[in-house]
Amino acid sequence: MKPSRAAMLAMVGLVAAVLSRAALSTAAPSLISMPNADGLSYDFHDESCPNLRQMVHDAVEEAIKEDIGVVAGLLRVMFHDCFPQGCDASLLLFDKFWSELNMPQNNGIRRNAVYLIESIRIKVQDACGPTVSCTDIMNLATREAVMHFEVPGYEVPLGLLDSRAPAPRENVEQLPGPDFNATQLIESFQSRGFDITDVVALSGAHTIGRSSCGSFKNRFGENADFVRWLQGTCARNPNHLQDLDVTTPEKFDNVYYNNLKEGKGVLNSDMALTHDASTSWLVDGFAQDQGWFFSQFGTSMRKMAHLPSEFGNNGEIRKYSCFWANLHGPKGPTADLAASA
Ligand code: HEM
Ligand SMILES: *[C@@H]1O[C@H](CO)[C@@H](O)[C@H](O)[C@H]1NC(C)=O
Repeated sequence: MKPSRAAMLAMVGLVAAVLSRAALSTAAPSLISMPNADGLSYDFHDESCPNLRQMVHDAVEEAIKEDIGVVAGLLRVMFHDCFPQGCDASLLLFDKFWSELNMPQNNGIRRNAVYLIESIRIKVQDACGPTVSCTDIMNLATREAVMHFEVPGYEVPLGLLDSRAPAPRENVEQLPGPDFNATQLIESFQSRGFDITDVVALSGAHTIGRSSCGSFKNRFGENADFVRWLQGTCARNPNHLQDLDVTTPEKFDNVYYNNLKEGKGVLNSDMALTHDASTSWLVDGFAQDQGWFFSQFGTSMRKMAHLPSEFGNNGEIRKYSCFWANLHGPKGPTADLAASA
């Protein structure tokens, strides 16, 4: 019988725990080093790469100094990597024949966020050897990016492995669309084990970042000044990138929810949260209480990092590049593609 995924992950966690105990046999087991149900733990790299968090923190702060937009980039990268088949950095693979980044769902994913993850991998690998996956780096970097805005930290489960191939097309197509109504959003997120509170809290990521006109043109014609204004802006410049939070676009805060209450959400899926009783009470709550939004956002992001993954326990630690699998060797076939993207 094939062992279940949970059992395999538990084994991976156990082996890692035993190995690290062997190295430090006098250390009493602490609660936090106990693997989670899925075999991940929060201190997975504490012995093999003690400076990991600091390295990620410094690199993210450096990147933010260059361009605050990298925060939005990382958040969207993590969501679009984790939702299709669990967090496994499959989104980062540049494959000649098939790459997730070429799917319409992933239009506009910021390349500086993708490159930041690879540049951190290089630094981490110099310091610690190939012991930390691109997936762990992606999840840690996203956390640091959010924490830049004085959002209280959330735990990131570590010990995930990287996929050897991109996610199948049909999984990527399951990402929720900007034209979705509340019912569709809830169903989509429920298919991944998220509840209604997660849907509304995670949508709060749209407190930063931008959207192309194509993602909300389905709304043009709505009888509302705000939508007419969006439409006019896009008519003048079809390549316009619209701030998703029209009030405080460069701040991670709860103003996004206040905008929604004033009819100033950009995507149909944003406004939809106010049109359904099962979600609108949460919009009201987060609009009133930023502390609640922050703590719920952390809880939901941690959940995202725990999404069951086909490769999380069955993959590899990419040692040449986050952009190709190890089987390609040190000079991956897509090295130039990756360099020019
Ligand atoms: C609720 C369902 C969601 C839908 C329908 C949705 C859809 C979209 C769309 C259409 C864009 C603009 C893409 C473009 O045209 O350039 C966007 C941007 C963005 N999304 Fe979402 N999204 C959802 C949930 C999330 C979640 C859960 C996160 C992360 C936790 C997230 C983070 C972002 C960020 C940060 C941006 C701005 C990206 C940038 O400026 O580079 N979204 N989203
Ligand atoms: C949401 O959209 C679906 C698919 O278009 C539709 O069948 C359903 O009636 C809509 N629900 C609401 C509440 O508008």
